[in-house]
Formats: sequence, C-alpha cells, structure tokens
Amino acid sequence: MIQKAEEALGFSYAPYSHFKVAASLLTASGTVYTGCNIENAAYSPGNCAERTAMFKAVSEGERDFSAICIVNEDAEGGHGICPPCGVCRQVMMEFCRPDDFYIILAADEAHYEIYTLEELLPLGFGPGNLEG
Ligand code: THU
Repeated sequence: MIQKAEEALGFSYAPYSHFKVAASLLTASGTVYTGCNIENAAYSPGNCAERTAMFKAVSEGERDFSAICIVNEDAEGGHGICPPCGVCRQVMMEFCRPDDFYIILAADEAHYEIYTLEELLPLGFGPGNLEG
C-alpha cells in the first residue's frame, strides 16, 4: 500500500501549497484505489488525496473498506507523516467501521504509524447516529 501511494504522489496537483499528498485505499475484497490532492486557483474547490481515493472507489460501487495509506512530499522533497484532515476523517466515518478501519501514515516503507479511525476520530458522528 505504501508503494502504491508513493506511485500516486506523481499525479498530485499542488501548484499552490507545493505539498503533495497521495493515498492508497484498500477495499475488503482486495482492490486498491489511489488518489492525490488536486488544488485549484480558487483554493476552496481543492480536494485532499484521501477523499479523491474514497470518492473514486465509492463512485465505482465500493462500500467496504479495510485500510488507507497516506504519504506526502513537501516542497523540499521531504517525506513525513501526514495525518488526514478532519474533513477526510469524517468522510471515512461515513463508509468505514471506526474500530476496524486502519489508517497508515507512512514517511517511507520503513517508517510508518498505524491508527484505527476510532483513534483519530473519537466519538465520531456517523450514519448510525441518524438511526432511531
Ligand atoms: N492535504 C491532503 O491531500 N490530505 C491531508 O490529509 C492533508 C492536506 C492536501 C490539501 C492541500 O492540497 C495540501 O495538502 C496542503 O494543505
């Protein structure tokens, strides 16, 4: 998953922040969808790598996810840990079981941290909260 995310870094469109992000999203059936951040001259329409990957997958009929791996490259070419933003955590909350969805934050193949969605979004609001 780290390798696949790193490959997608090459597609990142980040001419404003110069902060490239890419993600690889693993479905329960073993398919991997990748995504990158896509910025915009008007700024707010930009999309994060994680949501690009999630929306690609959901728009192709996927609803069952196991893990997502996130990598980044800064303006100096450095690779660090890139935690998902709050909006991306909320989008994960819509489709993933908080205690059984793994978020892999990778600087490289030897340096990574793994969290559950529940750890990164405690007491998250999800579809279950709308059920009576
Ligand atoms: N970004 C992501 O793609 N994912 C994150 O989790 C954090 C931030 C992007 C958005 C923007 O294009 C750039 O990184 C700088 O914020």
